[in-house]
Amino acid sequence: MKIITSISDMHKVSLVLKREGRTIGFVPTMGALHKGHVTLIDKAKRENNKVVLSIFVNPIQFAPGEDYHSYPRDKERDEIMASQSGVDILFLPSADEMYPDGYETFVNVEGITELLCGKFRHGHFKGVATVVLKLFNIVMPDRAYFGEKDYQQMLVIKRMVNDLNLNIDIVSMPTIREEDGLAMSSRNTYLDSGERVSAVSLYKALKTSEDMVKNGERDTMKIINEMERIIRSETAAKIDYISICDPDTLKDIKTINGRALAALSVRIGNARLIDNCMLGVK
Ligand code: PAF
Repeated sequence: MKIITSISDMHKVSLVLKREGRTIGFVPTMGALHKGHVTLIDKAKRENNKVVLSIFVNPIQFAPGEDYHSYPRDKERDEIMASQSGVDILFLPSADEMYPDGYETFVNVEGITELLCGKFRHGHFKGVATVVLKLFNIVMPDRAYFGEKDYQQMLVIKRMVNDLNLNIDIVSMPTIREEDGLAMSSRNTYLDSGERVSAVSLYKALKTSEDMVKNGERDTMKIINEMERIIRSETAAKIDYISICDPDTLKDIKTINGRALAALSVRIGNARLIDNCMLGVK
């Protein structure tokens, strides 16, 4: 596995690959790699000649007071995992090179970024869209891979790629879960053992929403109330939002008549956890 730290070196390597007619699959991450990332890498390997993985804890997607400084960082472990997973190129840019003095260009996707997590994390998606576009310009991938746990992020990236006419396929992969259902996330490392038990309530609430819809419930208020009850039974949990919404616009829906997304964000201890599932009605 080749490790590249400078933007110009990464750019040069990608240009050579393109000239040789090879396809590039790109997995952007903030590190603290887990099985969810490995699934993205595996898929990228199957679909491309070369796989680039980036690790960059992007300062501009964290609001003041959020966990930028405490975000889990373990370069050695990540390098081993990336190499064992078959990554060809590991790109580790520095914040100084990504955002030098005088930096003042940002990408703002409107509409869908104002809902769900956007209501609680001001500027977050602007930071995500900006860094992802920069990384796309540097790596020049044919395909880029994102996890569906961050459903809203995936939608924002798809919107940006579409609106800005980028010639990149955005491939999304289902959420990978622990045995008890907790969605894998780098932020799960913040949970102590008691909080880890409480964290399963997110999955239980989503499962309940699925079961209610399967049993014929269509009134989203009733489903949300039941999800809320499950999460509130964990004293450590504080709900940011629970929403049942249109999977394309993320706007709340009252009655389920077709596909609907159940999405939630809950704070447990120092961790802000998000999860979602698709509620289908044919
Ligand atoms: O999902 C993440 O890890 C980050 O938001 C991303 C897409 C790498 C941008 O910093």
